[in-house]
Amino acid sequence: MNDNAPTSYDIVPYVNRSFPQSNPNKLWVVARLFGLNAPHPSQRRVLELGCGRGGNIVPMAFNMPRGEFAGIDLSAVQVAEARKMADKLGLSNLRLEQKDLMDLDAGFGQFDYIIAHGVFSWAPAMPGNGENGPASIEQTVSRELDSTLATFARSSLPVD
Ligand SMILES: C[S@@+](CC[C@H](N)C(=O)[O-])C[C@H]1O[C@@H](n2cnc3c(N)ncnc32)[C@H](O)[C@@H]1O
Repeated sequence: MNDNAPTSYDIVPYVNRSFPQSNPNKLWVVARLFGLNAPHPSQRRVLELGCGRGGNIVPMAFNMPRGEFAGIDLSAVQVAEARKMADKLGLSNLRLEQKDLMDLDAGFGQFDYIIAHGVFSWAPAMPGNGENGPASIEQTVSRELDSTLATFARSSLPVD
């Protein structure tokens, strides 16, 4: 995808809010309760795919100063807004980049926690893969990144 082309979210930015259920502290507790040996998040690396205007990743980085945080989003306008908020808070543990999640590879970094909230349905299909976004995000995360724990949230239509 051409990362420089304006997206619909550049024209109409999305609501800016946080999702407590995606907080690595909560994920860590849930993982431990299910018997997974997840690393304690306070000093860990956290990536948010489709971070929008930063309403979720910025407060997390603020609250966990010894963690390393990264957020990417395709929308340059939204990433600029997230950066403005991070700069105001003087955050040095948060990297924000305008980037297509489909272009992520191991060179971008390794992460212990990966958050994808509300971005499933927006991801394009992988080349050569007849599947839609959800499958392509799962493939991107599991193939390209050495993740320990990933959380996905998506909206879906009610089923009968
Ligand atoms: C519905 S909004 C959700 C934003 C936020 N995560 C939330 O849950 O409120 C979808 C977001 O995904 C971003 N997005 C869509 N396709 C993307 C892609 N291929 N790579 C990175 N971000 C993408 C959009 O720019 C937008 O900010």
